[in-house]
Amino acid sequence: MKTLSVGIDQISFYTANFYLDLGVLAQRNGIDIGKYHRGIGQEKMGIPAHDEDVVTLAANAAARIVDDAERARISTVLFATETGIDQSKAAGIYVHKLLNLKADCRIVELKQACYSCTAALQMACALVARDPAQSVLVIASDVARYDLGTPAEPTQGCGAVALLIKANPRILNVHPQVGNYSEDVMDFWRPNYRKTALVDGKFSTKMYLKALTNAWDNYQANGGMGIENLSRFCYHLPFTQMGQKAHNSLYRHSKPAVDKATFDSQLQDSLIYSRVIGNSYSAALFIGLASLLENDSADLSDESIAFFSYGSGCVAEFFAGTIVKGYQNALFTAEHQVMLNARQALSYDDYLNLWNYPDPLFYRASIPSFTAAMRWR
Ligand code: HMG
Repeated sequence: MKTLSVGIDQISFYTANFYLDLGVLAQRNGIDIGKYHRGIGQEKMGIPAHDEDVVTLAANAAARIVDDAERARISTVLFATETGIDQSKAAGIYVHKLLNLKADCRIVELKQACYSCTAALQMACALVARDPAQSVLVIASDVARYDLGTPAEPTQGCGAVALLIKANPRILNVHPQVGNYSEDVMDFWRPNYRKTALVDGKFSTKMYLKALTNAWDNYQANGGMGIENLSRFCYHLPFTQMGQKAHNSLYRHSKPAVDKATFDSQLQDSLIYSRVIGNSYSAALFIGLASLLENDSADLSDESIAFFSYGSGCVAEFFAGTIVKGYQNALFTAEHQVMLNARQALSYDDYLNLWNYPDPLFYRASIPSFTAAMRWR
């Protein structure tokens, strides 16, 4: 019996219209720019405007992949985020309305730091395997915020990715084998009373690498592909040098037969977009996939791609998928590159202004008529 292939039929991402060049931040903070460019591997970070949030980022990412035919097929919206705008109502409900999706559609929000989009993808594949006529819309959308003047400040960013999950997909057939690793650790977290994350930065990088080798071992124990059969690698990218550190660690741990330079070349194209967007938390791994598919000059048809998903706290997953022949025709390469190139650079003062006042409570306190209008709520 032929097994049904299920996976990513379309992938589209979006980031804010503004960015801060890390050269501006380096100058302001008295840091050698080499630390940002080479040490963490970042050039720019996306900064949302006052009228942008995870809903607008998500709707912009998903709008490209939802046409009338898909509107009729999308049975479920799975919205992954750790920048939720409400403790109760799922952000996906606003996106469902903005995209004019049908009423007989289930919508739910998922949270586990940067890992949750991978959980959403696996759940979506299971739903489609049960009923191959349906499509599931998976969205990950986040704004990464750390305190000003901290070592984590240059690793901010924002972005959303939308994945359409279908039977017989045009881009990636997701394999059923996975490797997991979970442990209760305080490497990065954001309690309800905070707008910015708390992070033990160096510890978080160690936990990421520990989770990688454990998830890889579990993936192998569960019948996953051998390292030689994986031709490209996508890692969660809080900053691109973390992807390189992960790749180095996997090389040492899995001991592939290829030389290190060849192994390194299997990573590089997945880093291009994150380098100029910054951390987009739950969306970062899949923006890395878009970066790989849209920038790798080789035809990746029938190649197997490895994915490592890490969410602080922590939950990690190693999995793989096979690229579908003709995938190039389903990509939004030109649209993504136009969007990235059209963004506007911020001055340091503009960045500070956007950073300081993203909060509706600020307007509530400072604008009398708004305060009055809100009082009944
Ligand atoms: P830091 O204090 O800037 O670290 O914090 P550093 O001083 O060690 O410098 C970083 C690197 O730059 C070092 O290289 C330096 O040698 C190098 P390494 O030792 O790492 O190879 N360097 C230079 N290179 C070239 N020219 C120079 C120069 N100077 C120094 N002149 C840290 C870095 C990443 C810890 C900080 O930015 C941070 O806390 N970031 C936030 C946490 C984070 O991203 N953690 C990643 C793993 S956890 C994760 O991925 C989950 C997450 O996405 C959240 C979620 O799951 O929701 C964060």
